Amino acid sequence: MAERRQFAGREAVLKTVIQAIEDQRLHVILYGERGIGKTSLLHVLTQTAIDARYIVIYTSCGANSTFDETFRAVASEIPLLFHSGFSPTGTEAEKGSTLADLLPDEPLSPRKFGDLCAKLTGTRVLIILDEFDRALSGSFRRDIAEVIKNLSDRLGRVQLVLAGVAADLTELVEHIPSIRRNIFALRVPKMSEAEVTQIVANGERETNLSFAPDATAFVVEVARGSPYIANLICHHAGHAALDQSRTTVLPADVGSAIDRAIAEFQGRIATPAQTHVRRLFDAGRQDALAMSARAALAADGVFDASDIEEASSVSTRKAQDAIDALCAERLLKPVNSDEIGTRYTFVEEGLPTLIWMMWAQRNLNRDAPSPRAAAAL
Ligand SMILES: Nc1ncnc2c1ncn2[C@@H]1O[C@H](COP(=O)(O)OP(=O)(O)OP(=O)(O)O)[C@@H](O)[C@H]1O
Ligand SMILES: [Mg+2]
Repeated sequence: MAERRQFAGREAVLKTVIQAIEDQRLHVILYGERGIGKTSLLHVLTQTAIDARYIVIYTSCGANSTFDETFRAVASEIPLLFHSGFSPTGTEAEKGSTLADLLPDEPLSPRKFGDLCAKLTGTRVLIILDEFDRALSGSFRRDIAEVIKNLSDRLGRVQLVLAGVAADLTELVEHIPSIRRNIFALRVPKMSEAEVTQIVANGERETNLSFAPDATAFVVEVARGSPYIANLICHHAGHAALDQSRTTVLPADVGSAIDRAIAEFQGRIATPAQTHVRRLFDAGRQDALAMSARAALAADGVFDASDIEEASSVSTRKAQDAIDALCAERLLKPVNSDEIGTRYTFVEEGLPTLIWMMWAQRNLNRDAPSPRAAAAL
């Protein structure tokens, strides 16, 4: 999210996170599916915290992130003048020195970092580690848990915010059960229809286009709570209208936008599974796909027959038939069974979104010519 002005909704989530940080002094774990808006939220949180005079350090983790490298970089963003051992008018502080100048040559440990943070005064610091689930090293994760413990024990002025895709980010906390009470974990929810509508409205304002009410409704329906899809479709739909010298975006433009989005997805990762999906659609076997995709989108990827029943209002029997059919096609696979019973997931992460858009294109869009009809013109 480049611009705060384009940021829609999320008031409740932001408020909860800010209260956890500001009032309860907790460390925060934000998790949620790909594209749901974690990074965008973190950017707005960063801006809000800077306005409230926090020092905010935002870092995106990578596969090779190490504690030493990450927290040296963090320390280099904290001016020495906030260290109680240095007078704000002293020469070191004036020279623009930072906490990093106090670090030892040997690898930085969580304890050492915690010790330094305990000496901070006159400021509050927010360390944001985005894409935390990308960090593969077990020792990095353990060190993060350790540093959270250290910082919490000292009622410090330094708090961590971790964000990532996996719900098991919270497993981090299990390393050290005693830090559980110092952590606030929040799953970023899907957007409401009102929030997606606001994304469309922001798009209208930014581009001086207007969306016809049924075009907006179409976007809301296709997006299914995903800000990523909503933005993508609005963007393409706007271009489609402009290509026809219109400033009003019609449902047909949304239809073309979905085509483009589908083509883009397939261009990026054309896999045998996608080709297979398309073939099933063309053979008129879309129902099982659509039901399962809807359930997968509603249930964070992993679902069972009861999720299908709920998402599509069908009988248990029909729901299970859909699952069995797609397992036979090797598009679904079972995941570890637990006491609740077997649950399923699509063999590729992007499939539910792709299937949903293909279904929406063929079933919700009564206004646009079908892709084939358009090609024949
Ligand atoms: N509140 C919002 N208002 C408007 N657009 C949003 C909002 N949240 C997210 N978006 C848009 O949705 C897309 C995905 O958002 P973002 O990158 O924040 O998701 P993410 O959860 O961090 O994804 P990933 O798991 O891939 O890191 C971006 O294009 C962003 O502009
Ligand atoms: Mg992100």
